[in-house]
Amino acid sequence: MRTHQRLLLCVFAAACGGRIDTSDPDLIDTADAAVAIDGARADGNGGVVDSGVDTGVDTGHYGPGGRRVVGSLVCAKQPHPLAKYFAEMTAFEAASVPAFRRMQRELTAHRAPRALVRAAARSERDEIRHARTMSSWTRRTGGTPARARIARFRKRSFEAFAIENAVEGCVFEAYGALLNCHQARAARSPALRKTFGAIARDEIRHAALALAVDEWARARLDASALDRIRTATAAAFAKLEDELEKPAPAFARDVGLPPPQVARALIAELRAATG
Ligand SMILES: [Fe+2]
Ligand SMILES: [Fe+2]
Repeated sequence: MRTHQRLLLCVFAAACGGRIDTSDPDLIDTADAAVAIDGARADGNGGVVDSGVDTGVDTGHYGPGGRRVVGSLVCAKQPHPLAKYFAEMTAFEAASVPAFRRMQRELTAHRAPRALVRAAARSERDEIRHARTMSSWTRRTGGTPARARIARFRKRSFEAFAIENAVEGCVFEAYGALLNCHQARAARSPALRKTFGAIARDEIRHAALALAVDEWARARLDASALDRIRTATAAAFAKLEDELEKPAPAFARDVGLPPPQVARALIAELRAATG
C-alpha cells in the first residue's frame, strides 16, 4: 500500500474517532493488489467520461452516497426534508450497484488483478445493503424511497474508465466515506450512528479499492492521459468545495453531517492525502 493510501486511511480513522480498523485484511488486500500489475497495457485513448448523476439534487452537504452514474432521480413528494434526504440517499446507494457491476466487467476486460474484480463484486453487494438500509430509514421517517433511472452504459475507453474511477471513487465516494465516518460519531440517535458506522466501514473499503484501481490504471496510461486525470480530479474537488457554499440543510445535525468548516477541512485532508 502506498504512503498516500495509508495516510488516507489514517484520515478516515481520525474522522470516525479511531473506531475504524485500518488493519482490516480486506483493506490491505485490496490496496496491495495494485502492486501486482501485469504487463498488459490497455488503450489510453481519450473518451467522453459519462460520469456524474444529473439529478438536479444538491448533494454538496451530504455527499453522493456512493459512485454516481448518469441518470435521473425519481422521487415522490416527501413529508419533510429528512425523509427526502433518506429517500434520495436510497437512490444514490442503489445507483452505485450497477456502477460496481460495470466496474467488474471493465476490470475483467482490461485484465486487472482478480483481487480488484473480487473487491468490486463485494462492493456491489455492499451497495445493495446500503440501499436497503437507507430505504428502511426512509420509511421509518414517513417517506417513500426514491429510485434512480440509470442511463444505459456505453462501451468506453480505458482512459474514460480511469478518469471516472479517479473522480467518482477517489474524490466523491471517498468524501462520502469521510462524511459517513463523521455521521457515525455525530448523528443524534444511537440507531443512526450505528447505521452510518456500518456503512462507513464499507465505504472506506470502497475508497481503498478506488485508490488501488487508480494506481493500477495510471501505470497503463501515458503522460497526457495522466494530465487529464489530474485536471478532472481538480475539477471534482472544486465542485465539492463549491457545493459547500450553499446553505446546510436543517436536518444536518440530526444525521451528523459536519458543519461547513469541518467539511472543508475534510476535503482539504482528502485532497492532500490523494495528491
Ligand atoms: Fe454506499
Ligand atoms: Fe460505496
